[in-house]
Amino acid sequence: MSNIIWYIIAYLVGGIPFGYLIAKYAAGINIKEHGSGNIGATNVLRVLKQKDPKKAKKLAALTLFLDAFKGAAVVLAAKFAGVCDATLWTLAVLAVIGHCFSPFLKFEGGKGVATTAGVLLVLVPKAVLVALVVWYLMAKYVRISSLSSLTAIIVGIASTYILYPNLSIQSHAPLWIIAFIVIYKHKENIYRLVTGQEKRVV
Ligand code: G3P
Repeated sequence: MSNIIWYIIAYLVGGIPFGYLIAKYAAGINIKEHGSGNIGATNVLRVLKQKDPKKAKKLAALTLFLDAFKGAAVVLAAKFAGVCDATLWTLAVLAVIGHCFSPFLKFEGGKGVATTAGVLLVLVPKAVLVALVVWYLMAKYVRISSLSSLTAIIVGIASTYILYPNLSIQSHAPLWIIAFIVIYKHKENIYRLVTGQEKRVV
């Protein structure tokens, strides 16, 4: 299959707005109009828990899983199909772009954290595991979702360079593009964090 087809698939699959769909069809809520307006698992939990905390937890976990899974699935499928390393990294970027600028939501979308975890799990799994531990500890003890995500992204990048010293030259730019997109999508969160207004997920 030509690389162009893989690029389109990565962007479209990455663009599936699972949080939006889950909130809409499982709870009848337009998640973009509530809470932070994000379509990610945190906002699904934040908004839906007002109705049914137990169900909200399950739906948030499902959102998190599916957002990560779609990224991993695309890169993994391409890897099994024999696509070269440089193209796999491009697919990773496109899946994250798809999630953050979804063609199914008028090019709006999420903040890319779970999808980044999914694509990188296939490419640099050890670094993702370190980032996940950091994310979990931050989420558990600091309980600010955006700060957990941003810390995990930074730790993930640092771990990639430490744990994969022979990383192919083609992977550096994609890695930084992904980090830039995720950080850029958190710009409002960063403003709230700096000004002490970012709320904890209780
Ligand atoms: O992964 C998303 C998280 O970092 C921030 O989400 O809804 O608190 O803006 P939210």
